[in-house]
Amino acid sequence: MTVLIVGGGGREHALAWKLKQDDPSLSLVAAPGNPGIAELAECVQVAATDLDRLVALAVERRAELTVIGPEAPLAAGVVDRFRAAGLPVFGPTRAAAEIETSKAFAKQVMLDAGVPTARAEVFRTVPEARSCVRRYGAPVVVKASGLAAGKGVIVCETVAQADDAIDAMLVGNAFGDSGHEVLVEEFMEGEEVSVLAIADGERVLPLVPAQDHKRLLAGDRGPNTGGMGAYAPVSLGARAGVVSRDYTELLNDVESRVLLPTLAAMRQRGRPFTGLLYAGLMITADGPRVVEFNARFGDPEAQAVLPVADVAPSLFEVMRAVARGEGIPAGARCRASGHAVTTVLAAAGYPDRPRRGDPIALPAPRPDAVVFHAGTARDGAGRLVTAGGRVLAVTGLGPTFAAAQRASAETAARVEFAGKQFRDDIGWRERARGA
Ligand code: AMP
Ligand code: GLY
Repeated sequence: MTVLIVGGGGREHALAWKLKQDDPSLSLVAAPGNPGIAELAECVQVAATDLDRLVALAVERRAELTVIGPEAPLAAGVVDRFRAAGLPVFGPTRAAAEIETSKAFAKQVMLDAGVPTARAEVFRTVPEARSCVRRYGAPVVVKASGLAAGKGVIVCETVAQADDAIDAMLVGNAFGDSGHEVLVEEFMEGEEVSVLAIADGERVLPLVPAQDHKRLLAGDRGPNTGGMGAYAPVSLGARAGVVSRDYTELLNDVESRVLLPTLAAMRQRGRPFTGLLYAGLMITADGPRVVEFNARFGDPEAQAVLPVADVAPSLFEVMRAVARGEGIPAGARCRASGHAVTTVLAAAGYPDRPRRGDPIALPAPRPDAVVFHAGTARDGAGRLVTAGGRVLAVTGLGPTFAAAQRASAETAARVEFAGKQFRDDIGWRERARGA
């Protein structure tokens, strides 16, 4: 049986790895893949956004399932194209993916569905946006409405900073087209959690909760990035300040207050959401509130969540059933098997101008660590070199958080390439909770 994986980053490597764990007899094809994925799959040089060739590839290989990794092909309508061709595909349609690609749309869905989130307003002109900043008061958050690779959000400590952010987006064109519409949003206080849930339009199967680390440097300093590391599970209850080894209460709360009402609102709009619904949440004193939705697996959350997600019947079976339109199988469930900590190794110059072409030396494999490739390539001589901002994601696994963190940090330290940047404190909040 053949599965096509669309994309070529760390998330897609983790998907390939997990699918092979679920069923070693699966034959995997990746478009375009990367040198790490190439150890598990046949990599075909088709870009993730080349919709015509992706459809042709799935037909030619008789793929029983195609899984879409990144947001760009979803935003371009890859799922609509696959469905029109009668091909089973895991992911939302272009209209449903707007829950990620338009923050303004997502906000309206949440307001209509009564999903807890920060108050926000959408503007296209500077004076209106500035006056909203003054009404809300600082701290306040300014966001580019469209896709900006996780970088179009500015948390402003002062009104003056917010004014600058608005100018940069609406006048200075800082985020191109995605910044021509800005959201001014109330600041939420709390700890962040990512809940990745498989959705079939009506029902959900939430996976193990994870926590991302968006800032470049240890201690949550430095610029925002696509994500410098993650861990799963997270020992948090459903209210700020509640520590709980059992995250069931958190997931139940998120399912009933966030995920199911959102799916209902999407159905009402004629845009049923199927695929992976990612809720980025702030756990506040009033419970979980949505920071953002994504329409796909998180990166690097997938590299932490998938290795510990013990899904029954299996992730493969569940994704295939959803892709075929059969819905999540009755009795499907997910629980955590152990702990995972993922440390991202980024290239010199990341996030602004990542340098490419630095040779990479990987340490000897160890049973409690998996090195997922993200931005790597083979050069003319076949050597592994850096080829993107986030180069590798090293997931340490263990029966405890501490063991997983050690395995991840030790392995990350042993990878060698010039200018390597990484955080040695992934999971510091979990550690502070006494894990
Ligand atoms: P986003 O791309 O919407 O996930 O935002 C990136 C990061 O900005 C989030 O992970 C939060 O750390 C922060 N952020 C976004 N919106 C808010 C908010 N309303 N209140 C506090 N922090 C926020
Ligand atoms: N790690 C955040 C994201 O995938 O958007």
